[in-house]
Amino acid sequence: MHNFKAIKISENTYWVGAIDWGLRDFHGYATNRGTTYNAYLILDNDGAILIDTVKAPFYAEMMARISSIIDPKSIKYIISNHAEMDHSGSLPQAIQDIKPAKVYASKMGVTALKDHFNMDLGIEVAPTELTLGHAKLKFIETRMLHWPDSMFTFFENDGILFSQDGFGMHLASSKIFADENNREIVYYESAKYFANILLPYTPFIKKLFTALPSLNLNIKMIAPDHGPIWRTKEDIDFILSNWQKWSEQKYYNKAVILYDTMWQSTAKLARSIADGLMDNGVEVVVMPISVVHRSDISTELLEAGALLIGSPTINQQIFPSIADSICYLKGLKPQNLIGQVFGSHGWAGEALKILTKDLTEMGVELAAEPLGVKYVPNENDLIQAHELGAKIAKTLQQKLAEQNS
Ligand code: FEO
Repeated sequence: MHNFKAIKISENTYWVGAIDWGLRDFHGYATNRGTTYNAYLILDNDGAILIDTVKAPFYAEMMARISSIIDPKSIKYIISNHAEMDHSGSLPQAIQDIKPAKVYASKMGVTALKDHFNMDLGIEVAPTELTLGHAKLKFIETRMLHWPDSMFTFFENDGILFSQDGFGMHLASSKIFADENNREIVYYESAKYFANILLPYTPFIKKLFTALPSLNLNIKMIAPDHGPIWRTKEDIDFILSNWQKWSEQKYYNKAVILYDTMWQSTAKLARSIADGLMDNGVEVVVMPISVVHRSDISTELLEAGALLIGSPTINQQIFPSIADSICYLKGLKPQNLIGQVFGSHGWAGEALKILTKDLTEMGVELAAEPLGVKYVPNENDLIQAHELGAKIAKTLQQKLAEQNS
């Protein structure tokens, strides 16, 4: 009787990963629903192939799942599709215990794994194709999805695309297939993952979609390294079309207002700006930084067209809470946003200049004028804030009309 059993996902393939129910922070991204580290085992009469491993603390769980169906020593090949340690953390121990005939990674993967573990693990560059008994694998380099070393492995016999971070999400669930999970959660967590992990690499994603048809892969299942597996045609179309849509970085009729506040003055401006946007037909999400996480802001921006940021001036600077989010968003490089800055100040009001520089560096097109008020906004200031919202709404609608023409 085994604890942690392998779960069959197709004729010749088993899921042998681990569920991390308690993960709440993935390098700065709030993983509110935990995650999974998916590893897969392909069985053949001539031996087995292990696709990826799990984060180091989950090694025993992966090995128990493998041992529930085979002697781990019958694994002939280990494939490392991605060097990041949530997938490679168990690799050195697995190589030591299993002693496979070969371990393969992409060319960049071989170097990255050497640099991670500071030892020669005997990992070789994957050939274009690999055969073990009846099992036929193809390797496809997918640089920057998520790292330079990333590659996909396609298992021809069962039509499974092992896509490592690609098409994944952070979602701990006992239901291993996407179609068994709540649709809204699956959509939200896919979008959040895309917005926080893949957004800077949309040019590479577009290239992937251009290249995919010429690869002639008969994909029956997409098995990522995080979250549920896409096994129905409807689900495969769902995740591919959403990734394609998100990679296009279009304008959406939605504005995100991010702010922090000292004595509620900047908060009052945020609410009036929001009202101006709403009055002019734009969906608004107001995000006081005190109650939201930076990774939720990027998620909202994935399907938005405007970003407004407000901060009081404190000691000639913006609030550190806002600086944190701006630093994070700059790295993610969201495209196709218009926006503006606002805030309350006591005397000099340096925050507006700093925020303007930040938004410009992010590539946000500044529409209207920045809105700064001294101390507490009066009735006229709030009217101006409403007008700022209206101006942003009109500019956004022009952008949407151009986009749709
Ligand atoms: Fe799930 Fe880029 O690692």
